[in-house]
Amino acid sequence: MDALTQATAPPPAEALAAIDALMARGAAFFGSRYAIMGGAMSWVSERNLVAALSNAGAFGVIACGAMEPPRLAEEIAATQALTQKPFGVNLITMHPRLEQLVQTCIDHKVGHIVFAGGIPPGSAIKAAKDGGAKVVCFAPALALAKKLVRSGADALVIEGSEAGGHIGPVSLTVLAQEILPHIRDVPVFVAGGIGRGEAILSYLEMGAAGAQLGTRFVCATESIAHPNFKKAFIRGAARDALPTVQLDERFPVIPVRALQNGGTRRFLEHQAETIRRFLAGEVEKGAAQLEIEHFWAGALRRAVIDGDVENGSLMAGQSVGLVTREQPVAEIVQELVTQAAMALAARQG
Ligand SMILES: Cc1cc2nc3c(=O)[nH]c(=O)nc-3n(C[C@H](O)[C@H](O)[C@H](O)COP(=O)(O)O)c2cc1C
Repeated sequence: MDALTQATAPPPAEALAAIDALMARGAAFFGSRYAIMGGAMSWVSERNLVAALSNAGAFGVIACGAMEPPRLAEEIAATQALTQKPFGVNLITMHPRLEQLVQTCIDHKVGHIVFAGGIPPGSAIKAAKDGGAKVVCFAPALALAKKLVRSGADALVIEGSEAGGHIGPVSLTVLAQEILPHIRDVPVFVAGGIGRGEAILSYLEMGAAGAQLGTRFVCATESIAHPNFKKAFIRGAARDALPTVQLDERFPVIPVRALQNGGTRRFLEHQAETIRRFLAGEVEKGAAQLEIEHFWAGALRRAVIDGDVENGSLMAGQSVGLVTREQPVAEIVQELVTQAAMALAARQG
């Protein structure tokens, strides 16, 4: 079979059935066709992308980000108007109105709440579960994974440092080895740097219940991200998506993986100048730390919505190099499943 035929021929039915079997636990957990989660991305994962993902057989997740409860309620209702399929909501645990946001999800019959940005308080997990929602948490290490399962998490996401946005220090390759063999009681989904079906297959075979992808869906036709933001992703290579650089350990910086631009360069200058003023006694330590933290306020919105890709934040995972064009969500999902099935079929001869 030549390369072209190989690329266009549908995968054998047995290979597709084998992928379905490997995804069965994850898909049953979400109530979706495939165990592929659209990772919530602030400003990007709104009604259009989320509904398109769920309609395509994946599992869309709304990024609540800094939304207030009434705004989240509106977004959930608008998504429900676009899809009959299940979808989830991602809540950031440090949001000052976390409990009300959980209640908003419950009131609107959201079946899955994903807690991100830290270990959720037990009260939030309990409120979500008492309200009938399944709880998904991020586990950054095995000990915390076990603790989260004991605290009631119904599923876990392990996200490697290859991912776009806020990241931990450990790659998915290592997290998967550390966590997948030991957590069997709940499904575990893998995230970070995944852009093709072959990778999904390999993690499914290691025991993952499914995969969460963010970067790969940014350039979906249905994604409302500004054309400039999408262009930056299409042009970007893996090596361009780098974590934030921290200049001085006395002034910690939250690591975020993003494409480098004028903003990331100016952030280094801003840190250097703020540290200089601190050392010269011109600014107190706390105020200097806040000045550093405030640099990126509103920066993701500026890039995603306004299209200011020079000054805004271009959060992107290393898988950005695998994004080559704008495509409908359904085509991306089918491509991922086909790649996984083809890889399996090729191995079986
Ligand atoms: C632009 C952007 C915004 C993101 N915003 C969030 C967010 O609000 N909450 C969250 O839990 N994860 C967020 N993420 C992480 C994704 O949900 C997902 O885990 C990650 O993109 C997976 O890695 P990948 O980009 O390599 O596929 C964001 C990622 C990107 C690229």
